[in-house]
Amino acid sequence: MCGKLWSLLHLLCLALASCGAASDEYYTAGVAEFRPALTGGSSEQLLQENLSAYLELIEAANGTADILVFPEGTLNSQLQLTAVPAPSRRTLCHITTGYEVHDFLRQLACAALVAHSYLVVNVKERENCAPDNDCPARGYRLYNTNVVLDRGGAVVSRYRKWNLYLEPQLNRTRAPEYAIFNTDFNVTFGHFICFDMLFYTPAQELVERYDLQHLIVSNMFKSELPFLTASQLQQGWAWANNVNLLAAGASLPHGGITGSGIYAGRRGALVRRMVGDTATGERQLLLARVPRWPRLESSALELDAERWGPAQLQLEMLQQPQLEEFNSWQVPLLNGSLQQQRLCQADLCCDFELQTELEAAARTTYNYRLGVFVGQRRYEEEEYTVVRLCGLFACRNDSILSCGLLAEQPAEPSPEPRAAVLFRRLRVAGEFVQRPRRLLMPSTLSGALYALQATEIDWSVRPDAEGAWRGELVTQVQLVLKKSHSQLLTFAIYGNYFDEYAADGQGGGGGGGGGVISQLTGGVWGMAVGLLLSYHAANR
Ligand SMILES: *[C@@H]1O[C@H](CO)[C@@H](O)[C@H](O)[C@H]1NC(C)=O
Ligand SMILES: *[C@@H]1O[C@H](CO)[C@@H](O)[C@H](O)[C@H]1NC(C)=O
Ligand SMILES: *[C@@H]1O[C@H](CO)[C@@H](O)[C@H](O)[C@H]1NC(C)=O
Ligand SMILES: *[C@@H]1O[C@H](CO)[C@@H](O)[C@H](O)[C@H]1NC(C)=O
Ligand SMILES: *[C@@H]1O[C@H](CO)[C@@H](O)[C@H](O)[C@H]1NC(C)=O
Ligand SMILES: *[C@@H]1O[C@H](CO)[C@@H](O)[C@H](O)[C@H]1NC(C)=O
Repeated sequence: MCGKLWSLLHLLCLALASCGAASDEYYTAGVAEFRPALTGGSSEQLLQENLSAYLELIEAANGTADILVFPEGTLNSQLQLTAVPAPSRRTLCHITTGYEVHDFLRQLACAALVAHSYLVVNVKERENCAPDNDCPARGYRLYNTNVVLDRGGAVVSRYRKWNLYLEPQLNRTRAPEYAIFNTDFNVTFGHFICFDMLFYTPAQELVERYDLQHLIVSNMFKSELPFLTASQLQQGWAWANNVNLLAAGASLPHGGITGSGIYAGRRGALVRRMVGDTATGERQLLLARVPRWPRLESSALELDAERWGPAQLQLEMLQQPQLEEFNSWQVPLLNGSLQQQRLCQADLCCDFELQTELEAAARTTYNYRLGVFVGQRRYEEEEYTVVRLCGLFACRNDSILSCGLLAEQPAEPSPEPRAAVLFRRLRVAGEFVQRPRRLLMPSTLSGALYALQATEIDWSVRPDAEGAWRGELVTQVQLVLKKSHSQLLTFAIYGNYFDEYAADGQGGGGGGGGGVISQLTGGVWGMAVGLLLSYHAANR
């Protein structure tokens, strides 16, 4: 695969410590945080509104971008389906549209041509099929599809979403698609859609099996506190895989949906946007100069700022539904003394060390808990993963059920000043059992709803260590705060164990993890929680 070729080139570059002219070290990418038009016209008018706003954003880049990415579910609805031709050299700009390819797709192809940019857009796709051939009675299959247009407006890649989320009318392909395309700027991308990011197939496989270092995701992602808000997950995923990630998000903050950014692996976020300061979404293009070799330290990068605050309280987020099953401990808010704690659950023990400082007087805005969790997470229908995590998270009061709720906006003028808790030191460490399919990510969050930047944290991973418990081989992970911080919401190590769950009875491979999980879970997880909403769910 081209992915392999590129790693070879990468190694060569590392060896030579330089990769040609400076201009070849970067490409320019843009991601759109985009509020779809949902009301105020006929469906044809809404589509036109979406389309013209897309065209304006493309124009706003002035032809400076090599690639522009738009979010999931913000263009056409099921009333205006389009065919998406298989990749070919033929530009869609000059085709005759009509029954199959909708005119909006042609217009976008022309825009790609004029702007001389690659475009990634997400559409509701109609694929006609013959009645006998596993074809729905309606005569066509319906997909949630990413389509990539090249600079000439030809389709270079098409991906039909595999991990559907609350999208009952949509179809899945018979086998998962691994969507990969090469570009004329010699970068090979893989792409997928929203919910896919929480699973091994195809998202994690694009990194591990196809060895890609440039990934694209189109999102309509509903954030969940304390561990799975949109930008936090994007940055953690890019960090853990040490890859570039271009993420474009739909912008509907009143529904908990927002979150776009461009992330350069362990270097951190280049640009990001979480819309939580208003309930109205935005239409904004975020542009960045992206390193061609995300793992090469030498390229100078312009990183996004460290963002502590102000607190963004207007985003209606979900809350982790299984907090009661955590083994947790409320942190006594001491002024200055060093505190240590060890907490265990099932096969995971976590060590914590922290030092807080309190401003004089005043009640503090948040309480904090340290927690450990090992358990099964069900998302929807047949989708499960096991989560193992250690972390600190903010709570409104003494009840664990208040963790992951933002503090209310202080009434003005505030009768009682609220003070921040300053973390002078914070260290979280855990010994995570090894499994073939898992991803261990930093999961950090400030009051501004952004993850901490690389300048603020230290992340170290030691694989194949002898575990203190049972002598099993483990991965030792440690997350340390490098600077004092007074707006922390979350500081955790989040392990997604992709296919180890009670239902398959055997775990993700060796070590008896499945047994541990079934004991723990006792079978029933009441709530299937919405992390991501299809347009339908969002509009409900
Ligand atoms: C604009 O995008 C939203 C989200 O897909 C959609 O609901 C709305 O109907 C769009 N306009 C049309 C008519 O496609
Ligand atoms: C595009 O051009 C306009 C007008 O010259 C300028 O204001 C804007 O900053 C440019 N945008 C980019 C992304 O270069
Ligand atoms: C496609 O989805 C429709 C609607 O849910 C369903 O009736 C049909 O069986 C599905 N077809 C295939 C081939 O998956
Ligand atoms: C891309 O690779 C080809 C073949 O190796 C080379 O000729 C070309 O100059 C490269 N282009 C860029 C932009 O690096
Ligand atoms: C905590 O200690 C700091 C520095 O020693 C001091 O300024 C502050 O007033 C103390 N806070 C409280 C609540 O006593
Ligand atoms: C804690 O906060 C939650 C959410 O605001 C509230 O429902 C609950 O009553 C509070 N509990 C206590 C013990 O104050």
